[in-house]
Amino acid sequence: SPLIRAPSQQLGPDYRPTEEKPTATVSTAPKINNLHILNQSPQLIALLTMIRDKHTGRADFIFHSNRISRLLVEEALNHLPVLPHNVHTPVAGRTYAGVKFEGKICGVSIMRAGEAMEQALRECCRSVRIGKILIQRDEETSMPRLFYDKLPEDIKERWVLLLDPMLATGGSALMAVDVLRSKGVPEDHILFLNLIASPEGVQNFADKFPKVRVVTAFVDEGLNDKNYIVPGLGDFGDRFFTL
Ligand code: URA
Repeated sequence: SPLIRAPSQQLGPDYRPTEEKPTATVSTAPKINNLHILNQSPQLIALLTMIRDKHTGRADFIFHSNRISRLLVEEALNHLPVLPHNVHTPVAGRTYAGVKFEGKICGVSIMRAGEAMEQALRECCRSVRIGKILIQRDEETSMPRLFYDKLPEDIKERWVLLLDPMLATGGSALMAVDVLRSKGVPEDHILFLNLIASPEGVQNFADKFPKVRVVTAFVDEGLNDKNYIVPGLGDFGDRFFTL
């Protein structure tokens, strides 16, 4: 029958016998409270493969990293509380016992690379407020320094999705959390979203702010002597905004 295909023509998840399926490197999952690693699905690994490839050009890098950012935002939103919410469906007399998110959220992007994740947040949360924080290494002390921040005035009443695609040492993100804490945002109302994290960065975060939820797509091997994540993807901001 035409519906029974030869194995090489089959479609769907069982298109190949198990021993012929491709293997790929998936994230390690360090046992750290409040570290949430996205499900290592074939689609996610394919997206990460695309953006790690040094031959991937800017347009493809933007498209595929946006898809990962969407997954991160959706995962982060799943950590926010919902209340029961009953609705009437268009079908006569039928109701549905559902839920509704009642709280207020905002995004805060760590400039410049964090701004690359704003579109995904806007696609998931229509007319969401987005603040910005600029932290750069001080030329003289080589310590991170806060250069600029613009945040919603009622930020302490909001859940904050902090955006930075690469968690390397965590220096800037930790300082960004200090800024949010100084504005009165409770530690457990902050979710830090990134595409690739280093084990060092994840540990630094857990040591200093154990209640901040870190939502990441992948935990890489480590950092090199220039504090780049390895194997990593190079400089995210350069690849997204300029190259
Ligand atoms: N920032 C990047 O863009 N890449 C890294 O590897 C580390 C920090």
